[in-house]
Amino acid sequence: MDREPGIKLSPRLYAISRLVQPGQICADIGADHAQLAIFLVEQKLAPKVIVTDIARGPYERAQQAAQVSPGARLIDLRQGDGLQPLRPGEADMIIIAGLGGDAIAGILCSDWKKAESFRQYIMQPMSRAWVLRNTLAERGWPIRTEQVIREDSRFFAVIKAAPGNTPYRLSPLEADIGPLVLASGPAGNRDYLLEWLKKYRKIRDGLSQTNRQEELAAVQMKLHKLEDILNGV
Ligand SMILES: C[S@@+](CC[C@H](N)C(=O)[O-])C[C@H]1O[C@@H](n2cnc3c(N)ncnc32)[C@H](O)[C@@H]1O
Repeated sequence: MDREPGIKLSPRLYAISRLVQPGQICADIGADHAQLAIFLVEQKLAPKVIVTDIARGPYERAQQAAQVSPGARLIDLRQGDGLQPLRPGEADMIIIAGLGGDAIAGILCSDWKKAESFRQYIMQPMSRAWVLRNTLAERGWPIRTEQVIREDSRFFAVIKAAPGNTPYRLSPLEADIGPLVLASGPAGNRDYLLEWLKKYRKIRDGLSQTNRQEELAAVQMKLHKLEDILNGV
């Protein structure tokens, strides 16, 4: 397989690449096509990227893509589950993108000791981000930055976090949307917040046809808080 040098990333993967501090050894867990790893080494943003995937097909896809990159010798491919293919501390930055928030949380929970041997994480949940955020809060891992990326008509949260040991609590709204995004107010992320408003209204309308009172009260609470934030209250 031949291709022109110089890979163009999707806005989602490009946003992730911008959060990598240049010079860090990275590991991309669940890398599939390995586009991010190829970009990081070709742009000299990372001296080495360990690329892993649990499944044979994506692992082979990553292999094929990496071997035609000018940065091939800086990409170390390994097949395996979560952090298992890594030795403790062998990467500075762990990237886990494009998996469900519950799957990312599951990877961390399966071996906290190893997970805490790496200095930093960039995580981009495709769904159920609240499971990941609550897991980080319960374990005491601070969220350092949070970005919302729009790709086509979809919003993606990109979370940069680091191991820590001071557990904290998130409100249900913070767990859904992201505490730092909420704290920054409506100006920068208005469309993302409006999308959540639409989602909550739809859930509320569905629940009001049922007798699930507790769930209805919970969604109404989130809805009111979000309306206040959007109205600058
Ligand atoms: C949708 S792709 C995301 C690819 C890339 N990270 C991205 O963001 O574009 C998800 C990949 O994660 C892999 N995967 C799922 N669970 C995994 C696990 N526990 N450990 C390693 N890889 C996993 C899948 O095989 C799949 O190739």
